[in-house]
Amino acid sequence: MNKETNFIIGTNNLIKIYKLGDVEVRALNGVSISVKKGGFISIMGASGSGKSTLMHIIGCLDRPTEGKIFLDGTDVSIMERDELAEIRNKKIGFIFQMFNLLPRMNAIENVELPLLYCDVEKKGRQKRALAALERVGLGDRIKHHPAELSGGQQQRVAIARALINNPAIILADEPTGNLDSKSGVEIIAILKKLHEQGHTIVTVTHDRAVAEHAERIVILKDGEITEEVKVRGNNEDNI
Ligand SMILES: Nc1ncnc2c1ncn2[C@@H]1O[C@H](COP(=O)(O)OP(=O)(O)OP(=O)(O)O)[C@@H](O)[C@H]1O
Ligand SMILES: [Mg+2]
Repeated sequence: MNKETNFIIGTNNLIKIYKLGDVEVRALNGVSISVKKGGFISIMGASGSGKSTLMHIIGCLDRPTEGKIFLDGTDVSIMERDELAEIRNKKIGFIFQMFNLLPRMNAIENVELPLLYCDVEKKGRQKRALAALERVGLGDRIKHHPAELSGGQQQRVAIARALINNPAIILADEPTGNLDSKSGVEIIAILKKLHEQGHTIVTVTHDRAVAEHAERIVILKDGEITEEVKVRGNNEDNI
């Protein structure tokens, strides 16, 4: 057993180089980060510092150029794309800044979507989607289309969709970036509740006040971690 098994997320010296023709962008330059089961961390850093790149790799949406990534003790950096998709579907819930809902589908249909790739019948899908929408306080909006919902409500639908497979890890990339401050506070309250219920949360934010709801803040600069701050008043030995 290696030491990474103590952590639900462990990365070791991640390097990500994007190649566009002759131009290379070194988006991650040796990132090592560990998150304990049930931890809550925030990632901050200037635009272009590599935050989304790191989230995509942790979320099995992309693979590193070099370095290792362990999820629940499993080395996912050596996995093929279909294996990554399976891990992603089981273990990861992703929340994006732009909500990424399908406009022609109503709330419950959007939330059911990830289950189309699993062997769940229509009735079971609807039941689980309704339960997920109720968890985010939207049991009374299930037939509304995205255009008929406020930004905060759309993001809550997106959170319900992320929760449908009850993932251990929830990754949120600027979840409040497109919201007014009141809706942002509601979204943070939901993330905190999910943390209390045992989910591991990683969130990217530009907003220090949002970041401070986590137990630990990790600062990225030019693809490297320059600082890790334990947030006072929030939980114990998460570092
Ligand atoms: N698919 C891609 N192809 C080429 N370069 C990319 C790609 N995605 C990101 N980059 C580059 O990698 C670097 C890191 O980008 P990334 O999106 O991770 O930054 P970020 O910290 O999330 O920024 P922001 O706060 O603006 O969202 C940037 O210089 C960006 O231009
Ligand atoms: Mg980004």
